[in-house]
Parts: sequence; structure tokens; C-alpha cells
Amino acid sequence: MPTLETRCDDRLMTEADIPAVVAMERLACQLPVHAWTEDNYRSSIRAGYWMRVRQDRHSGRIVGVCVAMDGIDELHLLNIAVDVDFRGQGLARDLLALLYARCRARRAPCLWLEVRPSNERARALYLREGFADIGRRKGYYPAPEGREDAIVMRRLIDPIDMSPTSEVPHALD
Ligand SMILES: CC(C)(COP(=O)(O)OP(=O)(O)OC[C@H]1O[C@@H](n2cnc3c(N)ncnc32)[C@H](O)[C@@H]1OP(=O)(O)O)[C@@H](O)C(=O)NCCC(=O)NCCS
Repeated sequence: MPTLETRCDDRLMTEADIPAVVAMERLACQLPVHAWTEDNYRSSIRAGYWMRVRQDRHSGRIVGVCVAMDGIDELHLLNIAVDVDFRGQGLARDLLALLYARCRARRAPCLWLEVRPSNERARALYLREGFADIGRRKGYYPAPEGREDAIVMRRLIDPIDMSPTSEVPHALD
């Protein structure tokens, strides 16, 4: 049986992907209101953010999405989601690895993100991936009853990873 890696392609996200990505993410999130809207994706495309989807080669099904913003000396992960049917198979890890490669290619020594304290799955992923808690943003996220804080996390990109030979060309897309 082929592995996920050989069955899936990573590519840039386009406007045409938005409905499928939103549908996938709404099912993946604990609550549909946690998911990005079509407008969020449209404005991110307009803003020129780094946006990639992982797509099953045979069915065309989009099984993962990752959005990040370039900063000076840093990258900021804005969103990541994996199809519920493909959970726990390392897809999110793979998408994060593309981001680490982009950090190295852009010589950005750290990657930032925000996450809901209630999102245990994502928290576990980030902690296992070497992100550390840096602080909290009060009332950052909308929640069914009021607002929810965000935990701000940061992962330093190992200086040894910053050598020019470690660049991954397609991560620059
Ligand atoms: C969070 C999310 C992206 C993880 O995707 P995933 O592809 O299942 O993650 P991976 O398979 O790469 O898992 C890697 C790590 O995640 C954690 N993880 C995976 N499944 C888990 C589970 N059932 N319970 C707790 N942690 C789990 C583990 O730390 C795992 O490491 P391990 O394989 O060494 O045990 C996915 O669940 C998702 O799309 N959630 C909804 C959207 C979301 O919350 N995004 C984050 C916004 S900040």
C-alpha cells in the first residue's frame, strides 16, 4: 500500500480550493465557528500569504492546509488543519516541516503561532514539535460564550538548520 507521502502532493492554494478547504476545516475543528471562513482565505490570498494545500493525488481530495505570514526575521503560522479522516498520520507534522524549511530558506530564526488553550490536539502537536509557551493574548478568539484567550507559542529554528545547504527550494513558493 502506498504511503501518504507518495499518494499526496503539496501545492500552493488557489481561490478554486477555498470551498473544499473550508468544508474540510469545519469538520476538523472542535466547533465549526473555530474554522476559517471563505472570506478569511480570500483575504489571505489577496495579502500574499504563504498558503499550501496537501491533496490526494488520485481523488483530488484536499486533506490538509497551512497558512503562514512572512515577517522580518520570523514567520507566523496563521492556520493549519488536517482532514479528520487523515488525522494522526503525521500530515500536520509534514506541513510544519515545510514551514521550518521556509524559515531556513528565508533565514528567519523563529516561527510563532497562537492556539486556543482548549485545543488539546493542536497543543500536543506543537509541544511535541518543540514550540514553547511565550505568553497569552486575552480574549483573542471568538467563542460560543464570549471570547477565549490565545496561548502564544514560538519555535526557534536551530542555527545549524540555517545553513544555505539546508534550503528546500519549493518552500520559497
Ligand atoms: C491539530 C491538527 C492540525 C493535527 O493534525 P494531525 O495531522 O492529526 O497531526 P499529526 O498526525 O501530524 O500529529 C502529530 C502530533 O499531534 C498530536 N496528536 C495527534 N493525534 C492526537 C490525538 N488523538 N490526541 C492528542 N494529540 C494528538 C501528537 O502530539 C502527535 O505526535 P505523535 O504522532 O508523536 O504522537 C488537526 O487535528 C486539525 O486539523 N485540527 C483542527 C484544526 C486546528 O485545530 N488547527 C490548529 C489551529 S492552532
